[in-house]
Amino acid sequence: MTAPIPILFSDDDLHPFIGEQVGIGVNRTVYRHNGRDDVVIKVQNRLPCRANFTEWLLWNQMHGQPALRALFARVWGLSDSGRYLVMERLLSLDERPLPPFPAFVIDRKRENYGLSVDGLIKCLDYGDISLSDTLVKADLI
Ligand SMILES: Nc1ncnc2c1ncn2[C@@H]1O[C@H](COP(=O)(O)OP(=O)(O)OP(=O)(O)O)[C@@H](O)[C@H]1O
Ligand SMILES: [Mg+2]
Repeated sequence: MTAPIPILFSDDDLHPFIGEQVGIGVNRTVYRHNGRDDVVIKVQNRLPCRANFTEWLLWNQMHGQPALRALFARVWGLSDSGRYLVMERLLSLDERPLPPFPAFVIDRKRENYGLSVDGLIKCLDYGDISLSDTLVKADLI
């Protein structure tokens, strides 16, 4: 049976669900979720939890924009401290070239992309972005 994922949780809530390691980067170590096949748990290696927080913030800011959200692995939740992020699990990328992504996604290495269960190429590491061009273009109201 698939375990429900709470939207809000403490760091301690997630400990029992940390499964096999699936990847490691400069900022996070990433694990399978023991209760669910369709998500991973991304654990920040040190403070501050900038990358996890950035992904959580961006995903939530894309609310109501399905075409944009289709380019990014879904974020299910962030723990109180930001140390644990629950994200849609993507599968290994095939040979296809990467489609265009928004300019704020600056880290284009292939390890940062994967395939969703329905075959879409999505970005799985959007913790390091550059918003300067996007912010400069914001309307003054
Ligand atoms: N949503 C996901 N689904 C499947 N695997 C993932 C997912 N997120 C991360 N991984 C795996 O874990 C690795 C490290 O994750 P990620 O790139 O997000 O960490 P990082 O520390 O921010 O990386 P970097 O060193 O590129 O800054 C990825 O290259 C990938 O292999
Ligand atoms: Mg990465």
